[in-house]
Formats: sequence, C-alpha cells, structure tokens
Amino acid sequence: MELIQMEHLSEVLKILDGALTHDSRKAVDYANLLAEKLEGDGQRRQAGAVRSALAKRPVRSFSAAGLRSLPIDDASQAETIDIVNPVDDADDDLVLAPLAQEQLNEFLLSIANFDRWQAEGVAVPNRLLIVGPPGTGKTSLARAIARAVRLPLATTRSDALVSSLLGQTSRNIREVFDFAQAHPCVLFLDEFDALAKMRADSREVGELQRVVIALLQNLDALPESSIVIAATNHPELLDRAVWRRFGHRIKLELPRASDRQRLWTHFLSGKVNLEASDFDQLVVASDGMSPAAIQAAASDMVRSALRSGRGGLTLPIALRRLARTLWDDYEVFDNPASEMRALRTWQPKVFTVRALAELFDVSTRQVTNATRG
Ligand SMILES: Nc1ncnc2c1ncn2[C@@H]1O[C@H](COP(=O)(O)OP(=O)(O)O)[C@@H](O)[C@H]1O
Ligand SMILES: [Mg+2]
Repeated sequence: MELIQMEHLSEVLKILDGALTHDSRKAVDYANLLAEKLEGDGQRRQAGAVRSALAKRPVRSFSAAGLRSLPIDDASQAETIDIVNPVDDADDDLVLAPLAQEQLNEFLLSIANFDRWQAEGVAVPNRLLIVGPPGTGKTSLARAIARAVRLPLATTRSDALVSSLLGQTSRNIREVFDFAQAHPCVLFLDEFDALAKMRADSREVGELQRVVIALLQNLDALPESSIVIAATNHPELLDRAVWRRFGHRIKLELPRASDRQRLWTHFLSGKVNLEASDFDQLVVASDGMSPAAIQAAASDMVRSALRSGRGGLTLPIALRRLARTLWDDYEVFDNPASEMRALRTWQPKVFTVRALAELFDVSTRQVTNATRG
C-alpha cells in the first residue's frame, strides 16, 4: 500500500489549515494541488482518490478575483464584509431549544421550496432575524445555515460598516448589498444593533434616518430569494420597519434545564467520567449560563481531568471549574482562602471541609481556619 509521501506534507498541512479555519476554498485549492503533484509522481490511484473526494462535496466558493473586490469603508480603509466558505463536516453542532430548532427547520424548508412557493404566491422572503443574548449561538447559527445551503457566508463587520464619514455608512450598506447581489452568498448582518448606536452619538440628526432608508431600499431591491440573516441582542434599538422585512424569526434564549442537560452531555460525554447524578448537579448549578459559557466551563473540566490523568472528574472539581466561569465577570480571587469561602457558601453540601482539603491540597485544619468568619 502506498503512503502519502513526506514531500506532500506541506499540501496536507495547508488542507488541514483550510479545514480548521473553515476556509474550504483553501482546502479545495490545496487538495487540487496535491492531486496534481501525486499525478506528476505517477501516483494515479491516490490522485484519483483525492479528486473523487473533491467531486463528492462540491463547494461553491469565491474565486480569488471575487475576494479581491470586497467593499471597503472609505474612512477606515477596512473591508466591510468578511467571507467564510462553508465546510461540510465541521464539528460544531448546535444544541437548540425545541422551538428554535423548529423555527430553524422552517427557515431551511422555506429556502428549499422558495421557487415553488413563489410560483404559488405563498413564499416568504428568505430573510431571517436571530435574536438572543450573547453566547447563545447567533453567529454559529448563521454559519450553520450557510453550510446547510452550501453557500459562502458574507458577514458584515459592523465596526467598519458604521463609518466616521458623514453619509458613508449608507454608501457602505449599498455596497454590501451590491456585493450580495453580484455573488451567490448568505448575507449576514451580524451584531446589527451597532447601526442603531449611531442614534446616541448624534453627530448629525439625519444620519441614522438616512441609514434606515438605505437599509429598507436595499433590502427591498434584493431578490426575495437571496438569503439575508440579521442577528442582534437588542431588536428594540432599530427601526421596526427594518425588522418587519424579516419574516422569519429565531429567538435564542438562555438554556432551560432540559437544554442544559443536553449541552453538558454534548460537551462532556465520552471525554470525562462523571456520574449521572453529578450531571444533574451541573444542570442545576448552571442556571443562567449561556451555551458559550457552558462550553467554556466544560472545556475547562476536560482539561482538568486530562491533567489529573485519572480521566475521572469529581463533582467538587467540576463545580469549582463551573464556578470560575460563572463568577468570571465579577469575582477575582486573590487567595485560595477567599475561593474556598465562596465555594463553601455557594454549595456547602458539595464543598465539605474534607472535599475542600482534597481540592486545594491542604489539611482540613487549614480549611477550617480559612473558611471561618
Ligand atoms: N446553542 C449552542 N449549542 C452549542 N454550542 C453553542 C451554542 N451557542 C453557542 N455555542 C458555543 O459558543 C460559542 C459562541 O457562540 P456564538 O455563536 O458566537 O454566540 P453569539 O453570536 O450569540 O454571541 C460558539 O463557538 C459555540 O461553540
Ligand atoms: Mg455573535
């Protein structure tokens, strides 16, 4: 059996890099190059295997020429959109609440049937508004949708979109929509409330109004079959006339207990040994955490289990990690004693004197002293 030769390692690494950075164009380009090199070496069978793997997953991606012509904000000279090509087997499944999952399925169904439903006069334009607090998966969901429909995702960079030049923001918006008109893509207006912040800093009273008008005109001019997704944490900040254009809605919320159960299972199962009853404790303790925070805490737990070498994760270790994520925003412990006290106050049944002694690798007497008073 022939093996991939070391002189092709650089192509393999580039393909890997493309896959890991969700840059399928890069992966595809280097896979083609690899096929050519293998052929040049007389490795016909291997070259054929690479080519047929490529043919199995055709990915629509932008040519290098298309990428060179991204719209730019005149004031900052920054590109106003960012292109990511979909990668089919990317491993970032989302755990969604049942209602959100249903809304997602409906949107995908609507996209798939758009032409047929339009012929019947019952189509809803392919416009989706995703609303939800930070870390609930808005950006990830847009990426997942682009992947599902096999189109590149063109994400607006709201910092560059909102220009310091008077009148330039409206021009930037028009250029972004022109781009979406000219290239098959999913247009993603991420963190869209940034536009509404213009109202606060009222350099010029008419500016926001002009921006809203530009948005309405451009949205209306874009074919209804074009997919536009907007995500925001604050839908109330932007003009209702804009949101009304988005007939599809997905509301993401902080996960309820049943969804937190699925999230912990999703991020931990197969990676650590944790008793079922301990899982239940994590579910209770993570009330109010976003999926992103749960993911961060879970990764922390996995690292901790790997470091300990036992593969097993005890409840005190897990909850300590969870607490660090949970309290991250407002609590910095300057010494072990204050962390011990906080843990003990939080969950006295789990953080017994004995458990704390083991966790912090000190004597029970030291724990008693530290947590007293
Ligand atoms: N519902 C979810 N299920 C699984 N992972 C999630 C979910 N929501 C967020 N995450 C994780 O958290 C990270 C940040 O989420 P992101 O999509 O940026 O959230 P948002 O855009 O709403 O702030 C993602 O990379 C993803 O791995
Ligand atoms: Mg986001």
